[in-house]
Amino acid sequence: MALNEAQKKLIELNKEANLGGGEERIKKQHEGGKMTARERIDVLLDKGTFAEVDKFVVHQCTNFGMDKKKIAGDGIVAGYGKIAGRLVFIYAYDFTVFGGSLGRTAADKIVKVQRMALKMGAPIIAINDSGGARIQEGVAALAGYGDIFYQNTISSGVIPQISVIMGPCAGGACYSPALTDFIFMTKEKSHMFVTGPDVVKTVTNEIVTKEELGGAMTHSSKSGVSHFLGENEEETLMMVRELLSFLPSNNMEDAPIEPSEGSLEDNEALNDIIPDDPNKPYDIKQLIEGVVDDKYFFEIMPHFAQNIVIGFARLEGKVIGIVANQPAYQAGVLDIDASDKAARFIRFCDCFNIPIITFEDVPGFLPGTFQEHNGIIRHGAKIVYAYVEATVPKITVITRKAYGGAYIVMSSKHTGSDVNFAYPSAEIAVMGADGAVNILYNKATDEEKVKAKEEYKEKFSNPYRAAELGYIDEVILPQETRKKLIKALEMSQTKNRINPAKKHGNIPL
Ligand code: HXC
Repeated sequence: MALNEAQKKLIELNKEANLGGGEERIKKQHEGGKMTARERIDVLLDKGTFAEVDKFVVHQCTNFGMDKKKIAGDGIVAGYGKIAGRLVFIYAYDFTVFGGSLGRTAADKIVKVQRMALKMGAPIIAINDSGGARIQEGVAALAGYGDIFYQNTISSGVIPQISVIMGPCAGGACYSPALTDFIFMTKEKSHMFVTGPDVVKTVTNEIVTKEELGGAMTHSSKSGVSHFLGENEEETLMMVRELLSFLPSNNMEDAPIEPSEGSLEDNEALNDIIPDDPNKPYDIKQLIEGVVDDKYFFEIMPHFAQNIVIGFARLEGKVIGIVANQPAYQAGVLDIDASDKAARFIRFCDCFNIPIITFEDVPGFLPGTFQEHNGIIRHGAKIVYAYVEATVPKITVITRKAYGGAYIVMSSKHTGSDVNFAYPSAEIAVMGADGAVNILYNKATDEEKVKAKEEYKEKFSNPYRAAELGYIDEVILPQETRKKLIKALEMSQTKNRINPAKKHGNIPL
């Protein structure tokens, strides 16, 4: 049957809408090494699953000749589809339409999809590539951002929210990604800043490129704003798909279980990872990979605060969140950035029912005026708060040093951990032998100090005092770690802990 005129018109309208700002601008987008909004959605979602909403909406602005410039969709491509067969909601800014700028209509469209995602209990992904508030619309555009922020905040902890930055994202527009759970950035093509290089120069006289100020590497290594860094758009989008494989669709579900490889046999190679010399570094990721399914650890924020390692893995197919001190970087010391990184991740895992495994080897908090003046007290408190508040299963393995406040902070029994293991190499004490003897024997001779150190090591540089007090449930060999963790996870599956009813707590921010 041939199509009638009305049906043909729909096909024409769809074709026109698919072109966004037109072929010239699409060409320009490609020349800049960027995909269009539709191409990005196409790469990200399972083939043929995208269902679009509000394709024909147009803005209502009449200022500055805008009444003569209306483009179907108004610069946002939005809707829903599937990733690995699971429902997700998505919206992508279309830079070919008014520079991806956001006006009232575009914001309403985003809010509509945000609400749908919340109602259906499915993750939402935002792909940003935008010149910010649509200048011609004035305060109506700003109001639109406010509505998006509101929805971001209300949805926080209910559905996973992911932001992908693939072009400019400037000014207050940065606060929507900042309110979401994870931010992805693409190398060289994406920039985020509250005020751009020109304003910086005017106000502070500082000359800085946009890459230095707010490029992907800056936010991945220095500011900690970005969680994942992709070499190019395709790789970035594939990482989004992978992240979602570790997440439940909402806070009422568990993360998907995947068939994975790994036996319950002991892994003797793990016994050789931790050096006998307690001051020698080793790579905690080697230990993690030796324990988890398929030796696969999906690291988050690998370039920021490398003294702590966070990420997802699986044990017998079940997703776990891992928090681990990294002795290979600054001896695994805790500082402001490490505290923020760990605390936020712990809270994410707790929101979405993901058990937390902590590998601990921490000499303490980083000393110095920089740390004290910038608030290590309030930042460090976030880790305690996050661990205590978390009601998901929490299991800790002390691999070596667990000194002082850092011992308490890193998911100790005292702050609510469910199962605590320690290796024979663990040193659970107020501080290391050198520090302790310098304080206790400050007036002693060198000979007396050496003797005192030996005595201190004998008494405290081991896991057995803590084990005697029941602060460690079991001292285990490294080779047994996987088996022990699997058993502990199985045991804690039915954990039922509810914090006292309250409006919300007051985490130190
Ligand atoms: C309306 C805009 C726009 C905007 C870009 N365009 N930004 N239109 N409102 N905010 C239009 C341009 O006029 C141009 O239209 C087209 O989009 C492409 O822009 P170009 O400048 O040609 O592209 P490019 O050289 O790649 O530069 C991209 C850019 C630049 C760096 C994003 O356009 C820019 O600096 N834009 C303004 C950024 C900004 O200051 N935004 C407001 C931030 S404040 P034509 O028709 O000529 O092709 C903000 C507040 C949010 O967002 C508050 C939330 C609480």
